[in-house]
Amino acid sequence: MLNMNNEPQGRRKFNVRPNDSRRRAVLHKADGKIVGIGRIEEDVVKSAYRRWAPVYDATFGKVSTVGRKHVVEVINQRRGRVLEVGVGTGLSLADYKSDLEIVGIDLSPDMLEKARERVANDRMTHVTGLHEMDASALSFPDASFDTVVAMYVMTVVPDPEKVMRELARVTKPGGEVILVNHFSQEEGVRGWVERRMAPFAEIIGWRPVFDVSRVMGCTDLQMVQRQALRPWGIFTMMRFHRQAAVTADAAE
Ligand SMILES: C[S@@+](CC[C@H](N)C(=O)[O-])C[C@H]1O[C@@H](n2cnc3c(N)ncnc32)[C@H](O)[C@@H]1O
Repeated sequence: MLNMNNEPQGRRKFNVRPNDSRRRAVLHKADGKIVGIGRIEEDVVKSAYRRWAPVYDATFGKVSTVGRKHVVEVINQRRGRVLEVGVGTGLSLADYKSDLEIVGIDLSPDMLEKARERVANDRMTHVTGLHEMDASALSFPDASFDTVVAMYVMTVVPDPEKVMRELARVTKPGGEVILVNHFSQEEGVRGWVERRMAPFAEIIGWRPVFDVSRVMGCTDLQMVQRQALRPWGIFTMMRFHRQAAVTADAAE
């Protein structure tokens, strides 16, 4: 017998299974070993960061402080307009020097709400915009920013290759794209722990197994620095120079 939803009567309690399996990330394997994790969909990212938003600053936000401060110090040596992609709760915003203009974007309205509160409470006039936006489809014109930074974001975004192309597009030729990210290890205890965590990527909201090659394929970006960050080198800073556009004349 079927119920109102055309499901077999008495089976409704088992309906948690499809959701459960949806929350199991697609794992890419080679020789039986997990080497990558599939796309995390936008709605999954949003719901993960709805859960993270109230506790983020006191948990992952704290663990990631050293890397964030280091990168902001690097950016403070630069000039002009900065786009912070995946700005989250805005933990970095107060540390930028006041003569930079900072624009932030994030996919998660819950994380952005925290960032907006922070900007309003601290009256941060150097932050000129916080927008709900997808990093893989930025609504800024080409060459809008001198510096584009994404901290602890590339392991989260649904399509990292597309995001790298977008970061390059909105960066002025001669400008910089800067990442801070966790890249996984194949060997050792750390690699083992990362592979054990991999099936839960959609629950925790980031990919514990994430190869550095996923951010290296954009031809407009040339890597100029790669530095393991304290503590323990778990996170890496990467700086990319935005190549000048090749004009049709020059290409001939
Ligand atoms: C681990 S948090 C990092 C937040 C912040 N950058 C920091 O240093 O604390 C990752 C952030 O990336 C955001 N995010 C994930 N996918 C995104 C996308 N496609 N576009 C914009 N933001 C995204 C999440 O909503 C979340 O706020």
